[in-house]
Amino acid sequence: MTGELSPIDKAKFVAAKRAADYVEDGMRVGLGTGSTAAWLVRCLGDQVRDGGLRFKGVPTSSRTADLARKVGIEVISLDEAKWLDLTIDGADEFDGDLNLIKGGGGALLQEKIVATASDQMVVIADIGKEVEHLGAFPLPIEVIPFGWQTTQALVEETLISMDVLGRKSSMRMNGDRPFITDEGNYILDLSLQRIGNPRQLALVINQMPGVVENGLFIDICDAVVVGYGDGRVETRDINEGTVEQDRIDFIETDNLFKDLAE
Ligand code: A5P
Repeated sequence: MTGELSPIDKAKFVAAKRAADYVEDGMRVGLGTGSTAAWLVRCLGDQVRDGGLRFKGVPTSSRTADLARKVGIEVISLDEAKWLDLTIDGADEFDGDLNLIKGGGGALLQEKIVATASDQMVVIADIGKEVEHLGAFPLPIEVIPFGWQTTQALVEETLISMDVLGRKSSMRMNGDRPFITDEGNYILDLSLQRIGNPRQLALVINQMPGVVENGLFIDICDAVVVGYGDGRVETRDINEGTVEQDRIDFIETDNLFKDLAE
């Protein structure tokens, strides 16, 4: 099955596989959302079933919750866990300070709440997610449905005084209907091209009525595990100032790839 994976999927897989080593018996772990996080959940499920790993997972979306249960991970809510040892999640972009854009999968609100409630956040990403400046990936913001067009106009007007190159926004769609988040809200995607001051932008956007949360994760991520299509992985820890390199062999197991075949 791994032979059929694209280089990007292999990169996501090796990053997830390496990051699974962070999870230890007895931990409460936030489980991210997206295709890279789905590899992590599969890897952890494999270790639960075959390696006897025992931990509790707090999913950041209904999709991740479904997959985690399916692969045998014990799922609890954030309210049950209250505080987490670790969260592992994907990202749409990360910069040299490990600031992130997240929310491409529409789960940014739960993802930010869960990551913030964790002693440590580890991001898993293929090398294509690394950027010098955040903003090429459209910045998702979650808005409440009431008056969303007014909120959109307010956001676009506010962007005029921000250090960004683009100011267009669009409502995220699911077919011909608005995309609805797990909390029943809408997502606006902001095409900013380059964000000069992500910290300031994150604060200003969140002050607007109608905005629930934005996809900028500032000073939340502690380490990034970067995967390459040839099996190399690089772990960069911003607190320790360390960079570790490793290589992961693609190991095909029935369990790991089971749900892909279904
Ligand atoms: C989900 O809402 C996002 O924050 C994802 O973590 C992000 O979009 C990365 O997704 P992929 O791992 O699928 O690229």
